[in-house]
Amino acid sequence: MCGIIGAVAESAIKPVLAGLGKLEYRGYDSSGISVLSNNEIQTIKAQGQLNNLKQRLSMQDIDGDCCIGHTRWATHGRASVTNAHPHQCGQVSVVHNGIIENYLPIKQQLIQWGHHFHSSTDSEVVPHLINHYLSQQMTQEEAIEKTIAQLKGSYALGILINGVNSNLYAIKQDSPLVISQGNNGAYMASDAMALGSDSEKIYYPKDNELIKLNSNEIKFCNKSLNKKIHFINNSNASELVSKGEHSSYMEKEIFEQVDLLNRLASDQQANKYSTIDFKALNKITIIACGTSFYAASVAKFWFEKYANISVEIDIASEYRYRSPIIMKNELAIFVSQSGETADTLAALRYAKDKNAQTLALVNVANSTIAREASFTFEIFAGPEIGVASTKAFSCQLAIFHKLCIEAATQRAFIKSAEIKQLTLNFKQCSILVEKVLQHSTQMQALAVNLSKYANALFLGRGILTPIAHEGALKLKEISYIHAEAYAAGELKHGPIALLDEKMPVLVIAPKNELTDKLLSNIQEVKARKAPLFIIGDASIKEHIDLQEDQFFELPAIPESILPIISVIPMQLLALYCAKALGKNVDQPRNLAKSVTVE
Ligand code: AGP
Repeated sequence: MCGIIGAVAESAIKPVLAGLGKLEYRGYDSSGISVLSNNEIQTIKAQGQLNNLKQRLSMQDIDGDCCIGHTRWATHGRASVTNAHPHQCGQVSVVHNGIIENYLPIKQQLIQWGHHFHSSTDSEVVPHLINHYLSQQMTQEEAIEKTIAQLKGSYALGILINGVNSNLYAIKQDSPLVISQGNNGAYMASDAMALGSDSEKIYYPKDNELIKLNSNEIKFCNKSLNKKIHFINNSNASELVSKGEHSSYMEKEIFEQVDLLNRLASDQQANKYSTIDFKALNKITIIACGTSFYAASVAKFWFEKYANISVEIDIASEYRYRSPIIMKNELAIFVSQSGETADTLAALRYAKDKNAQTLALVNVANSTIAREASFTFEIFAGPEIGVASTKAFSCQLAIFHKLCIEAATQRAFIKSAEIKQLTLNFKQCSILVEKVLQHSTQMQALAVNLSKYANALFLGRGILTPIAHEGALKLKEISYIHAEAYAAGELKHGPIALLDEKMPVLVIAPKNELTDKLLSNIQEVKARKAPLFIIGDASIKEHIDLQEDQFFELPAIPESILPIISVIPMQLLALYCAKALGKNVDQPRNLAKSVTVE
């Protein structure tokens, strides 16, 4: 998903480049800017990471007081300088985040009108269409509104028009956009985090509110919107997060979990979760994507076991297109680190249309999902820059654990002594995570060994099956090793056919009532001579002969917090495999941190 930004300010290139640096987690296939300088628009683009653009700019002496910028995650048209944004036509330059689903018929029409296209993107039709209507003597606003009226799909647009009056326009539909009035200028961006530190006042435009930004004012343009823009305080003003002494954001974020879980354990505001009337609920449905979906899968175990509530889980891209039945007294929970994931947002809107009670679990306070849900709880993981989610996952689990304790208390399904024990167990998280991280060098040896293989199978049982899935996802995301996860009991029903000397199997094996079942699965793996790797309780080694670089010992972990602690070695494994293979840990290929298109 791309990142867009725009600024009307003295030397506008500076805030735009600084903002692009904070938006690069959204896509790094290419980047570019357009700047209004000496009464003409100059556009400079570069393929790959933002540094390539900065290098090109350092060889030129250009600046101006109005600038738009873009960092790209390719959807239509491969990663190249030609397909990089901004796309310009005449005196109109545009940056776009989203997908214009009907761009082909529009493009064919424009070609018939004599327009010549440079790129194979969907976005390039926007500047051409606006330019077409400007050439028909329409005003800038009329040309933009006529263009917008024809677009189908999702878009956040920054539109720079050079003319008698040069202006920057911003408009969005189903794609994140924020506007800000700063002390030194006016800004627009995909994410409040990208706005300069002087952006104290921000506004989140609603769909299709056309906004004009210039050095004098920021105002609505739609004739229908004869009202002032109400800015709110910007709680997101952030300095570029540093990696500290770590080699990557992902590594830093993995090691941050000790403090984060300690803070969440000592958070006295537990009563805020009592705003949910769990007693009245018949059912909970939890919807999410990717890593957030695996957090939902763990929460299902906890709600059913400790609060006796029936829980359904679903991935958002499926939920929104099947006809889920929303029950009376059902709570629909939407989990999203970014709070902007398009499929999860659409699923939320579906549930709201069906009058479901909706709760959002997010890491970005002012995100669209947070603003649209009936209730919102933050997970307080702090900005997560590494594309592969780590600390957000354990903080999602931590908040779910608190919600389950609240539900168990309200529904009195388990004894208060057991509830007390769950709370005490949770307070151990930070210490146990620290214990695991203290043995990170042991994981490095195992990772170097595993990184020799092109494929891997991950096995887990019960509440750790989602953790096996999360481990396989992390490894896929940043090392590009093809890892698949299965509930260990499924092995015999097919996946076992894959096993041979070239297919390593990693098993997550704690000490609990399922250990013996897992040991038989491990024997099945050994019988097929597949290389075996175990993340497990020390007692496992009494049954299986393993080399140092095949085993990572888990500390003794109370059952209720097993998923929170067991995911940490999975995160380390992926990190060290990717490092062993020389991969870019923070910006893995083909991925982006927030998936704002379908
Ligand atoms: C996880 O490492 C990935 N970045 C991805 O699967 C992510 O979890 C998914 O896109 C959902 O994102 P969200 O939590 O921001 O909605």
